[in-house]
Amino acid sequence: MTLPKKVKIVEVGPRDGLQNEQQPISTEVKIELIQRLVGSGLSYIEAGSFVNPKWVPQMAGSDEVFQGLFSTGGGFKPDVTYAALTPNYQGFERAVSSRANEVAIFAAASESFSQKNINCSISESLDRFTPIMEAVKSTGLPVRGYISCVVDCPYEGEVDPNKVAEVALRLHEMGCYEVSLGDTTGVGTPGSITRVIETVAESVSIHRLAVHLHDTYGQALANIYASLQMGIDVVDSSVAGLGGCPYAKGASGNVATEDLVYMLNGLGIEHGVDLDKIMAAGWFITDKLGRMNGSKVAAALAK
Ligand code: HMG
Ligand code: MG
Repeated sequence: MTLPKKVKIVEVGPRDGLQNEQQPISTEVKIELIQRLVGSGLSYIEAGSFVNPKWVPQMAGSDEVFQGLFSTGGGFKPDVTYAALTPNYQGFERAVSSRANEVAIFAAASESFSQKNINCSISESLDRFTPIMEAVKSTGLPVRGYISCVVDCPYEGEVDPNKVAEVALRLHEMGCYEVSLGDTTGVGTPGSITRVIETVAESVSIHRLAVHLHDTYGQALANIYASLQMGIDVVDSSVAGLGGCPYAKGASGNVATEDLVYMLNGLGIEHGVDLDKIMAAGWFITDKLGRMNGSKVAAALAK
């Protein structure tokens, strides 16, 4: 069994985690969360999203979040990636003027999800990304790609791994340096996740792939372990297991970062994150939201 020596953790809590929250969350709280995440050693934070604010009101203040991070006392660290989700060129321009140092574009492997989530077909969404990819040619801004519904779609059911491979190849050929495979509904098991990674890796190198696993069915850590065994060394996670997608009803958050860190510690895999500090960040945000902490490790260690 070969496991990577080092894993890069992509913290999506401030975006995937908070986008689903109905209650108002102040810009100050969002900024403090990001500062605490950076303070725990995380070097990649998805800090916000420049989507249509009418569709996802919670992300409407992403401009202010970035401004705050870059202001005096905002704690910006040049060696940290503060990424933003961008659905189209308009969102990309907002991300660039907010000084996001990386952007992420997002497509789906299911037509119905694509329509519900971004109001266009898969092929139209890829066309919308073309001007973004053209623009970054001169600036060198890195672009990450996401694919939703790599195992299952909340509207269509089971998804063909070959469709995932087709979209992954398009994103890769367009210039995404990495493609994150999203199990949006979290129904995947080590069986189905292994099959989809095997299929995608025939078209796109495993070293260009990441996993983004929602934990709705409690399978995320097992799925991550299976992915690591296949050579994946970039894993998305969300502090306190916050999150979901407004267009995948009932789906819970990504694997909790605390639980991922605990598992990686047990495997002796380097990741650079301090467990106590990431747990403190998790308690900070769950206290502010008045929510249960979705990390099993945080709950166990709090006893
Ligand atoms: P649309 O309504 O079809 O857009 O939305 P449009 O181009 O027809 O424009 C309509 C209006 O929206 C116009 O304003 C535009 O200016 C405005 P109006 O003239 O009516 O006043 N608009 C924007 N405003 C601000 N920023 C923008 C923007 N674009 C248009 N970027 C759109 C199309 C894609 C924008 C919309 O469907 C949208 O925002 N969708 C985002 C949905 C979303 O955020 N979903 C959650 C994130 S994805 C996710 O969670 C999955 C992931 O985690 C992986 C996984 O788990 O699977 C990544
Ligand atoms: Mg997600």
